[in-house]
Amino acid sequence: MTTAAKPDLRPANPRFSSGPCAKRPGWSLEALQDAALGRSHRAKIGKSKLARAIDETRDILNVPADYRIGIVPASDTGAVEMAMWSLLGARGVDMVAWESFGAGWVTDAIKQLKLDDARTFEAPYGEIVDFSTLNFDRDVVFTWNGTTSGVRLPNGDKIPANRQGLTICDATSAAFAQDLPWDKLDVVTFSWQKVMGGEAAHGMLILSPRAVERLESYKPAWPLPKIFRMTKGGKLIEGIFKGETINTPSMLCVEDYLDALAWGKEIGGLTALKARADANLAVIERFVESHDWLGFLAKTKDIRSNTSVCLTFTDPALTEKSEDEQNAFAKGVASLLEKEGVALDIGAYRDAPAGLRIWCGATVEASDLEALMPWLAWAYETQKGELKKAA
Ligand SMILES: Cc1ncc(COP(=O)(O)O)c(C=O)c1O
Repeated sequence: MTTAAKPDLRPANPRFSSGPCAKRPGWSLEALQDAALGRSHRAKIGKSKLARAIDETRDILNVPADYRIGIVPASDTGAVEMAMWSLLGARGVDMVAWESFGAGWVTDAIKQLKLDDARTFEAPYGEIVDFSTLNFDRDVVFTWNGTTSGVRLPNGDKIPANRQGLTICDATSAAFAQDLPWDKLDVVTFSWQKVMGGEAAHGMLILSPRAVERLESYKPAWPLPKIFRMTKGGKLIEGIFKGETINTPSMLCVEDYLDALAWGKEIGGLTALKARADANLAVIERFVESHDWLGFLAKTKDIRSNTSVCLTFTDPALTEKSEDEQNAFAKGVASLLEKEGVALDIGAYRDAPAGLRIWCGATVEASDLEALMPWLAWAYETQKGELKKAA
């Protein structure tokens, strides 16, 4: 039996995790030197850094001037749940999911909030829900880019501009890599740890004027913990959207986000960030096209993610095996790559079909993906050799 030869070249940075994601090229702890450590986040220095994080976010993402941007606790999950707990229940809601995280928001609506009028629309891994089947006069909750399935909404064309309901969009693995049509979105959330390679723990919550109107005119029937409360006496707490955070943020994480935003701006802003993710995806696309044992989990190209790229092994000798065997094979491949130090954290998400997930967000270098591709072939051949030995 021949053993596959190891490629000569290794990725300079083997970090392809889907979150926390790789730091920006050239990052080091030196970048955090100016952090306002040991100072109050309410002091002028802290407040101005938080306000700058908001302003720079608006600038890079082209968020309209009349949308509020807040830094909130508990990463993307905190931002999504804060929105759901504060806004839902005023009208019926359509809950939309096509992978694990979206499914989590469905559970929130149905089992935790126990909403009376909630409809669920789910698509299997690799597909998305047809938005023309939704009713946008109800609220609609969905995930723009399914991090665990590698599918994304191609655009917001099917969301009517004159909708009555609110659209609540978890965009954590889309923001800074994909276009977000602000006129179609009332709530957008994300975390710093994804495309910009920042730190987790803080969430970004972006609200349209209509979302603010709902907050000021509707009081949910359930209690709201302090970290979810955005209004006082029926009025929006405007300070939250100027950097007066509800509770204490990490100024180290804030400094790191400011560094990431400065890098994003320096390389050319959103256009450049998106182009980097697209170029990264293109490296994998070229490899998949020339290797018939590998395919994308996304069923069609228009919904293929350019950040969380999910791959499956399509070799019929494998696809006819049991789910457990396929999982074991894929885990074996990921583990070989990890042991070689050429790719860290690229196993498929625990709830997703067997395969690999390679992060292609803006902080990843296309040259590192180029270097990784031959290693995929090596690990695949090596793992198949193991299978043959066992047979
Ligand atoms: C689509 C999606 N939603 C929510 C989350 C949870 O994010 P966080 O851990 O930042 O709260 C993730 C994390 O990967 C995600 O990919």
